[in-house]
Amino acid sequence: MRVSQLWLDRQLTHAAYKTAQARVPVLLGRERKTVRTQIGIVGAGPAGLVLAHLLHLQGIESVVLETRSRKYIEERVRAGLLEQGTVDLLIETGVGERLQRECLTHHGIELRFNRRGHRIDFDDLAGGKTVTIYAQQEVIKDLVAARLAADLPIIFEATDVTVHGFDSAKPSIRFRAAGNPEELHCDFIAGCDGFHGICRPSIPAGVLTEFVREYPFGWLGILAKAPPSSEELVYNYSERGFALLTMRTREISRLYLQVPSDEDIEAWPDDRIWSELRLRTAADGDWKLSEGAIFQKNIASMRSYVVEPMQYGKMFLAGDAAHIVPPTGAKGLNLAVADVRIMSKAFAEFYKTGKTHLLERYSETCLRRVWKAQRFSWWMTSMLHRFDTDNAFDQRRQLAELDYVTSSRAASTTLAENYVGLPW
Ligand code: FAD
Ligand code: PHB
Repeated sequence: MRVSQLWLDRQLTHAAYKTAQARVPVLLGRERKTVRTQIGIVGAGPAGLVLAHLLHLQGIESVVLETRSRKYIEERVRAGLLEQGTVDLLIETGVGERLQRECLTHHGIELRFNRRGHRIDFDDLAGGKTVTIYAQQEVIKDLVAARLAADLPIIFEATDVTVHGFDSAKPSIRFRAAGNPEELHCDFIAGCDGFHGICRPSIPAGVLTEFVREYPFGWLGILAKAPPSSEELVYNYSERGFALLTMRTREISRLYLQVPSDEDIEAWPDDRIWSELRLRTAADGDWKLSEGAIFQKNIASMRSYVVEPMQYGKMFLAGDAAHIVPPTGAKGLNLAVADVRIMSKAFAEFYKTGKTHLLERYSETCLRRVWKAQRFSWWMTSMLHRFDTDNAFDQRRQLAELDYVTSSRAASTTLAENYVGLPW
């Protein structure tokens, strides 16, 4: 049997992938092992794994290549807040069982400034939509488990990953698995390899236009063994800078502090973090910050970034590979899922009918949502953070904006409907 027939005859299972690898040198007499699939997916983050899952459900084969180990991606601490649409998709496609058991559903958030909290009520303002706390690494674990349970290929610790021929009829991805050179021939390449990946930079110069905004601050994030101080997330505007109180479980708090973008994590021993959090979240009344042992600490830089178009030839970019938002609006993972939902529909149309209409419009379709999420994330960031260039006028303006957003039904509704996620 020719290797290229493997995927035509049956699902390319992990076992079939291994068999194909073993046979090719004999069949083709080449040193580089070659396997064929329909969609070659670079990156096993939320974008790559959700895409692979949606494709599988539609009978479309893919191979996922990931530079990191399974353990690394399942432990990487990042997002925590999922929009209703993301949660619905995970549940409807059969990977939301643990999520439903372990998640925390939220019906609002608090904006706190001038020592007072103001609730944005989603039940009232966002048509009953909610948001959900469930850590990104848990989503990853569920998706990896589903893929492996279905015996579908995912190559961890792939090195020297390079993409080729995506402007021709024969795209391929070369890489090394356990040091051995391999080549994956595919119909299309999905670049889901995050902001620092190789797919976007492989597109020839002059094709893409970048839109960038850098912020002069980042977020220092911690995980602490402390029950959340409040039932819902609290976004704090303070003269000392922004702070966010969020959570992972009923026992674990996730807390963020605005810090300068070039800050050294060593400058933040635990007691300094707690004292700064106390100051930035202080409120009148009997509210008290819940504290406990810090077991994870990191600093993330912040930028807004979009590349247009999100496709070139037979390569399609999704998620952080194509756009980054500052985390203030909690949109990054949710946008990644929205992209691959559109991409999977476009591939499904192509394989069912041969039509390329949706594939051709992929970038245009995604970018409408991406730019709205960019606007919202930039707006939340600008309203809630202290900028280096702040002057007394800007501070008064920010406070007036917070006052307006929390006192006008029209303005609160705008925040609420964007926060829970705009309709797909
Ligand atoms: P990634 O998660 O970056 O995945 C890309 C994958 O590709 C990685 O596993 C990487 O190892 C792999 N890779 C890279 N290069 C290669 C290569 N050459 N070959 C093969 N594989 C490669 N978003 C939200 O929606 N809600 C939130 O609450 C939220 N909070 C956040 C808080 C913080 C502090 C931060 C930093 C981000 C937050 N985000 C949030 C954003 C969210 O984490 C990202 O947008 C999301 O991870 C993007 O998913 P992705 O799959 O596009 O990219
Ligand atoms: C998180 O829980 O990590 C989180 C929540 C909301 C944000 C950003 C991060 O805006």
